Amino acid sequence: MMYSEKVMEHFMNPRNVGEIEDADGVGQVGNPVCGDIMTIYIKVKDDVITDIKFKTFGCGAAIATSSMVTELVKGKTIEEALTITNRDVAEELEGLPPLKMHCSLLAEEGLKAAIEDYKKKQERKIRDSRIQG
Ligand code: FES
Repeated sequence: MMYSEKVMEHFMNPRNVGEIEDADGVGQVGNPVCGDIMTIYIKVKDDVITDIKFKTFGCGAAIATSSMVTELVKGKTIEEALTITNRDVAEELEGLPPLKMHCSLLAEEGLKAAIEDYKKKQERKIRDSRIQG
């Protein structure tokens, strides 16, 4: 078979699908190769990602890698989360067919975009509190 059992399992039963309404960070990325889209929502407390959800309009490999990245990241600090690459995600899934490696980029980039958004919001909060104080 082309896909590992783990990929199939995450594709059939993706973890952490959905939205977080009061998310601390939201990242949306598109895959330039195929046009598929992914959105990631994170909740952060004391620098730890306490909750994460995703919505992916994409192929099976994109959904499986999105699901896996949410599992890898939950409970990790922002700094730890930033070290996770698409290769780590693919490895956790026991590999992806070479033609499908680009799909795993959505997971890495979506996560990074959500963290970026979180950091920007934090900076804005600090700035606003200075102005008000
Ligand atoms: Fe688009 Fe896989 S074909 S992410």
